Amino acid sequence: MIEAKHLSKQFGSKMAVDDIAFTVAKGEILGFLGPNGAGKSTTMRMLTGYLPPSQGTAVIGGCDLLDDPIGARRKIGYLPENAPVYPDMNVFDFLNFVAEIRGFTAAERKRRVPQTIEKCFLSKVTRQTVSTLSKGFKQRVCFAQSILHDPEYLILDEPTDGLDPNQKHEVRLMIREMSTQKAIILSTHILEEVESVCTRAIIIDDGRIVADDSPENLKASSPDHGAISLTVKYEDPGAPLASIQASEGVKSAVFLKSENGHLFFRAFPERGDRPIADKIVARLSQQHYPITSLFVEKGRLDEVFRRITGHCRPPNAPPDATR
Ligand SMILES: Nc1ncnc2c1ncn2[C@@H]1O[C@H](COP(=O)(O)OP(=O)(O)OP(=O)(O)O)[C@@H](O)[C@H]1O
Ligand SMILES: [Mg+2]
Repeated sequence: MIEAKHLSKQFGSKMAVDDIAFTVAKGEILGFLGPNGAGKSTTMRMLTGYLPPSQGTAVIGGCDLLDDPIGARRKIGYLPENAPVYPDMNVFDFLNFVAEIRGFTAAERKRRVPQTIEKCFLSKVTRQTVSTLSKGFKQRVCFAQSILHDPEYLILDEPTDGLDPNQKHEVRLMIREMSTQKAIILSTHILEEVESVCTRAIIIDDGRIVADDSPENLKASSPDHGAISLTVKYEDPGAPLASIQASEGVKSAVFLKSENGHLFFRAFPERGDRPIADKIVARLSQQHYPITSLFVEKGRLDEVFRRITGHCRPPNAPPDATR
């Protein structure tokens, strides 16, 4: 596993990473979330041995980075931020070079390099100079070097940054497929990526861990978790709103907006464990207000993120009506 043991990094008077500790086991995909400058990349740089910690250490598959840095780095694949790749080399030569310094024999390189090129969708740029590649292709080349040696531990700093939607999808699939044999840490600003790929998320703010849980549990802490969103085809919101509010088990309800003749409402339950959808449907149907859509809110990671990292809407503000 990957063990971060009280890692701290100080740059002058700035505490960029402040006593971060966690473990990641094989089979887990851990997402690092946090505002710009929170300390995600600095933590990853320390975990990969690129940056010495001011305090603490990391143990990678039993190798302490301070005692056995080469042993630890052998086990790691690292995709750094902004894809630093030698600009004057072509894609094939670069990957061949990486395979060589990873210690693979010529025969092994002959097998691995083309295999990785194909896996990372780089076949049509194999002989192109890196400096002439588009941003997304550079990112793919950097991703390719991180998985070339099939490492047990993968540390990916914004792996889908700059990729088109098809490639984002492919990279996420690849990460999920690889995760059964590996422990993976990735950072991202795309919250939907955390939901679709990660088994666990750590939110870092100002150098510290402020949340560590599964994406589902984090979402469940959202104020909208368990609320019912529904639309009704009707002209005036007053009467259906009163009807929703009077339904059994409903603590409060709000009218959000009107769009193309549809009225949008959200209802909050008195108790999270008591379903209210059936009660609302029964009451509105009885009074002949036609329901055109209804779903149970699971909560939203972006709202949880904003609340935890200090940029939430004030407690008494109306619910977000943008959806
Ligand atoms: N080499 C350095 N010298 C001085 N300060 C640094 C250095 N590297 C990072 N920092 C500072 O450490 C803090 C954390 O930076 P870091 O790059 O880890 O943030 P991040 O969470 O990865 O942000 P982003 O989401 O923008 O990538 C920032 O305040 C940054 O300015
Ligand atoms: Mg970063």
